[in-house]
Amino acid sequence: MSQPDGQNNELSNLLNESRTFPPSAEFASQANATAELYDQADADREAFWAEQADQLHWETKWDQVLDWSDAPFAKWFVGGKLNVAYNCVDRHVDAGNGDRVAIHWEGEPGDSRDITYAELQREVSRTANALASLGVSAGDRVAIYLPMLPEAVFSMLACARLGAMHSVVFGGFSSEALRSRINDAEAKVVITADGQYRRGKAMPLKANVDEAVKETPSVDHVVVVKRTGSEVAWDDARDKWWDDVLDGQPDTHTPEAFDSEQPLFILYTSGTTGRPKGILHTSGGYLTQAAYTHRNVFDLKPESDVFWCTADIGWVTGHTYIVYGPLANGATQVIYEGTPNSPHEGRHWEVVQKYGVTIYYTAPTTIRTFMKWGAEIPAKYDLSSLRLLGSVGEPINPEAWIWYRKNIGGDRTPIVDTWWQTETGAIMISPLPGATATKPGSAQRPLPGLSAKVVSETGEEVPNGGGGLLVLDKPWPSMLRGIWGDDDRYRETYWSKFADLGYYFAGDGAKYDDDGDIWLLGRVDDVMNVSGHRISTTEVESALVSHPNVAEAAVVGASDPTTGQGIVAFVILRGGVDDAASGEAALKELREHVSREIGPIAKPRQIMIVPELPKTRSGKIMRRLLRDVAENREVGDVTTLADSSVMNLISKGLKTGSD
Ligand code: WTA
Repeated sequence: MSQPDGQNNELSNLLNESRTFPPSAEFASQANATAELYDQADADREAFWAEQADQLHWETKWDQVLDWSDAPFAKWFVGGKLNVAYNCVDRHVDAGNGDRVAIHWEGEPGDSRDITYAELQREVSRTANALASLGVSAGDRVAIYLPMLPEAVFSMLACARLGAMHSVVFGGFSSEALRSRINDAEAKVVITADGQYRRGKAMPLKANVDEAVKETPSVDHVVVVKRTGSEVAWDDARDKWWDDVLDGQPDTHTPEAFDSEQPLFILYTSGTTGRPKGILHTSGGYLTQAAYTHRNVFDLKPESDVFWCTADIGWVTGHTYIVYGPLANGATQVIYEGTPNSPHEGRHWEVVQKYGVTIYYTAPTTIRTFMKWGAEIPAKYDLSSLRLLGSVGEPINPEAWIWYRKNIGGDRTPIVDTWWQTETGAIMISPLPGATATKPGSAQRPLPGLSAKVVSETGEEVPNGGGGLLVLDKPWPSMLRGIWGDDDRYRETYWSKFADLGYYFAGDGAKYDDDGDIWLLGRVDDVMNVSGHRISTTEVESALVSHPNVAEAAVVGASDPTTGQGIVAFVILRGGVDDAASGEAALKELREHVSREIGPIAKPRQIMIVPELPKTRSGKIMRRLLRDVAENREVGDVTTLADSSVMNLISKGLKTGSD
C-alpha cells in the first residue's frame, strides 16, 4: 500500500515520544465513563446502544435496535419516533433547566449574547414558524450559508423541528461551490447574512448567494440575517430580511415526532473525484451517538462545565459538537464568531478566561499556529478553569500534543485525540479521558460499542506494528445513510473495496501498536487534509484547467509544518500562451482563480509550471513523484513511468509562484 508521504516528519517524531499520561486520580474518580464501559458494550452491543438511545426522549419507543438486512443501508432504532429539536431544546426546559445558559455567543468585534435554554426554545420556535410560513415542510431542504451566528443554530434546529433537512455550506466557499450544493440538494430556501466579520473586516456574503442563485431553479426565498450592515443588492420577490420573516411569529411551536430514520441533514464533503458528495445523516441513531460521545469523550457535566468547540458550523465537527451533541446533553457552551487572532493572538485565551471554559476542542493546525505565535501569549491568561482538551481533524504530532498539554492544559488536563469523519457522524476512535493512559499522537481505541480494524489491501488483518488500511467492520448508529441521490456512488466509494467482508473503507492509513493502540497515518486516497479541511486533488485540478491558460494540472498535498498539508499544483500551460503566462502576476492570478472557483481554503500554496507531468504507461499521474518534488526530496523510483526522463525535465524547467 502507499505510505502517505506527508507523514515522514511526524513518524520520525513519534519514535521519540513514548511517554504515556494516565488521568489523575481526581479526574478518574469523577469521570462519566470508566473502563467497564468497554466490557458492557462487548457483552451485548445492541443492548448497549439501546441504553444510550434511552437517554433521549422518544415519543414512541423502537421495536428493533438495528436492521442491517439491507446493508450497507442501515436502520437504527426501527419504529422509534422522536423530534431532534425537542431533545436539544425543549426537553431541558421541561426538566426545569430553562434558565441555564445554552450559548455564550461571542462576536468577533467584541459584542456578545447569552442565550438560555428557555430563550433558545423561543428562538427556535419562531424560526420554525417562519420557515413554515415560507413553505418549508418535512422532507424539504434548506441551505444555510451563514457565519458563526446564533441564527445558524436556530436555523438548523428549526429545520430539525420541522423534519426538514439542512445543508450547511461553509461561509468560506465560493458562489460556484454554493450553487452546485444548492442544486444537488434542490434547496427551497437559502439562509444567509449580509456580510461576515473576518480578521476585523466586514466581508460580503450575500453577494455570493446572489451570484449562486442566478442558476438555482429550486430556490424560492433567500432569508438574510443583518450582521455587518453592509450594502446588499436586493430582489424584492425573492429576498427577505430575517427580522421581517420572524417578526410577529409566535414563540411557541408544537414539535412533531418523526421516524428515527427521518433525514436530518446533508453535508457535502470532498471525495476522490471532483464532485462533492452529499453525506446523508438521519435522526435517532445520529443523535444517540452524538450525545453519547459528547458525554463520555468530553466527560460532560451539564451543570458545571463550559464547553467550547472551535470548529465552524459549516463542517461536521460544528454539526455534532456545537449543535447536536452539546445541546442534546443540555450543555453550556461558547460559540465564537471570528478568527483566533482577532483582534489579537490571545483571543481564544481571553474567551476561555471570560467564560471559565472547562473543555476546549480544536484542531492540530490551530495548535501549531498557537505554537508559532509563542507560549508567552496563553501564559498571560488564567486558563485554570480548563480540565479537558480535545483534538480533531488530522493526526496530531507529539510535539503539538505535548505543547498543548503543557501550555494550555497546565500539564494537568487529559487530551482526547478524536478520530472520525463527516461520514461517521460522530467520534469513533478516542481515549476515554478518565480511563485511558493517553499517548501523544495516538487516537488509541474504538470507543465502547464501536469497532475498527487495520487490514491489508486484500482485507487480512495486519499484525500490530504493521501499516494498513483502516476499516470499520460493524455498523454504528451515526453512520451515514448514503450519498444524497446516489446510492451507487455510496456503495462504490465506501463498501466495494472489501465487499465480501462487509467492511466500511475509511480512506485512512493506520496501524495498531504493540499495546493495541491505533495510530492514524493520513489519507491513502487523493484527498488532501489542509488545516483539517478535506479537499480533493481532482477538485483543485478541475478548477485549474478551467482557466484559459492551463492545459493540464496535477495537484498534491505536500507536508506543511502548520497546516498539515499544503496544496502544491503542477501546471502545464497551453501552447501559444505568451511568456507572461508563467510570470509571477499570472501565477498569482491562477491561485486567485482557484480561490474564486472553490473558496480561499483551496488556494494552492504554490504553483509550479512544468513542461510535462509524470505518468504511468496507462496515463495515471504519479503523484508520489510530484510530492517528492514539492517536499524537496530526492525523487523516488521512476521505473513505472512511461517516460523516465520526465522527472529531469520537471526539475530543470520549474517556474514557481507562491506567497
Ligand atoms: C482525518 C472531520 C487523524 C482523517 C471530523 C479523516 C484525523 C478525515 C483525525 C475526516 C484524527 C480526522 N487523527 N486523522 N484525530 N480526525 N482525521 O470528514 O483523514 O472533515 O478521514 O471529518 O480527517 O475529515 P472530515
